[in-house]
Amino acid sequence: MWPFSSTVRFADLDFRTDVHSHILPGVDDGFGTCEDSSEALGLLYRAGLRRVILTPHIYPELYPGNTPETVREVFSGVSEVFRSSGMDCRIAGEHMVYEGVEESFSKEKTGSVLRLSRSSVLIEMSYAFEAANIRSFIFMLNSYGLVPVLAHPERYAYYSRDLKSIRSLLDMDVRLQLNILSLGGFYGDMARTKAELMLGSGLYTYAGTDLHSISQIRQLESLRIRKRLVPAMEKLLENNEMLWSDL
Ligand SMILES: [Fe+2]
Repeated sequence: MWPFSSTVRFADLDFRTDVHSHILPGVDDGFGTCEDSSEALGLLYRAGLRRVILTPHIYPELYPGNTPETVREVFSGVSEVFRSSGMDCRIAGEHMVYEGVEESFSKEKTGSVLRLSRSSVLIEMSYAFEAANIRSFIFMLNSYGLVPVLAHPERYAYYSRDLKSIRSLLDMDVRLQLNILSLGGFYGDMARTKAELMLGSGLYTYAGTDLHSISQIRQLESLRIRKRLVPAMEKLLENNEMLWSDL
């Protein structure tokens, strides 16, 4: 412990439930093998984590094989191995917002959608440009009783640090999810600056690791966050627990 430090180790916080990860093997740009996934779950368990929501990318252009059915099938194939790590895992999806995404969320299909929880869906956008249909898509999800949770808004280059655009999104029924590693500068100084501003301003509801590799577990272990941001971060970690319980 550094008694006079203005930062604290993230690993010292009570982080029990991760709500964003790419640990399901062989389905996207995350973990490639079941062995690596099991190793990751073991490391996370020893670090104190007990529950992980698996959120593979759902984006037909890049991952045409990822449908609710195929992803659930892969999950059921590994769930026994995963259970042996001691970690409680459940399956969801990280849905890219693209032109035409509404089709896979049509009224008839909402029953099979890979939800983050009973009443929420994890969504993401391109890092380079804001989806033209983001607001109409949020509105559509809301009309089905679903609350979209937008992943890592601090990493979107088109949202400036004055946070005006991000705040305007929050006029709708949407929640924001911090990528925890943004606070360590792993995605650049601008993402870190925006993440700290947004966390300090209470704009986030949840926090996820967005874990893609074992090396990112090392980054989490080394992560230090500003002491003044600890209460806000603890609140997000508490909210993660509530999200897990929303079944
Ligand atoms: Fe992700």
